[in-house]
Amino acid sequence: MNIVILTGAGISAESGVPTFRGPDGLWEGHRVEDVATPEAFERDPQLVHQFYNGRRAKLLDGTIHPNPAHKALARLAMLRAHRVTLVSQNIDDLHERGGSPAVLHMHGELLKSRCTECESVAVCREDLSRASICGACGGIDCLRPHVVWFGEMPFFLDEIAAAISTADLFVAIGTSGLVYPAAGFVSLARDAGARTLEINLEASAASGVFHESRRGKAGDLVPEWVEEMTR
Ligand code: APR
Repeated sequence: MNIVILTGAGISAESGVPTFRGPDGLWEGHRVEDVATPEAFERDPQLVHQFYNGRRAKLLDGTIHPNPAHKALARLAMLRAHRVTLVSQNIDDLHERGGSPAVLHMHGELLKSRCTECESVAVCREDLSRASICGACGGIDCLRPHVVWFGEMPFFLDEIAAAISTADLFVAIGTSGLVYPAAGFVSLARDAGARTLEINLEASAASGVFHESRRGKAGDLVPEWVEEMTR
């Protein structure tokens, strides 16, 4: 079976990574949308760096680990009983740490930087600032987080569309269904003839579009679903 899985912030919530639109969705009084735009970076790059530096440091402080949902998705891919395309809106590396062999990070990766001058992408585990120097071109004040901000084009859209066009099953896990284009994948999948399943803590903006919705914690429901798929 061809399976396309889309994950969102909810799959990492039980690992201690805050979701975007939950009760802790504000950051020092700023709405996430206000620090995650190209305009915000132009207006106040230090503030935007500070926001991502904080999230990066938290991801690396040793308290955040992949949970049973990340590990179950890795198991599903590694068993090779199905062809799995894992698409994540998350910028954390918990799918990789959980053992997933391939992840399409459509909104980029927190542990990478990108040079706005030479476009080179590099591993980044340190704080970024206006004084950071690009290892590829030597430029100063030209590095940004390798993440997709509101108003920017997500990555891998062609690969994702191709995978959805041949999907037998589309599964969305832990995403509020509010941010496009990811929120539209379920309709694309239905149009392509796939069965669609949502696994989320509560009803989402897109719940009505899915053939089936399961409500509960990803850490409980995802391993159960993977068990069903590999029985
Ligand atoms: N298990 C399953 N679902 C959960 C859990 C959990 N333990 N905890 C929370 N959820 C659900 C919430 O009910 C919510 O519907 O996960 C969803 C998280 O929604 P958002 O915070 O909006 O995250 P997401 O959908 O990934 O956001 C999409 O928006 O801000 C941008 O680029 C950012 O990738 C992000 C995009």
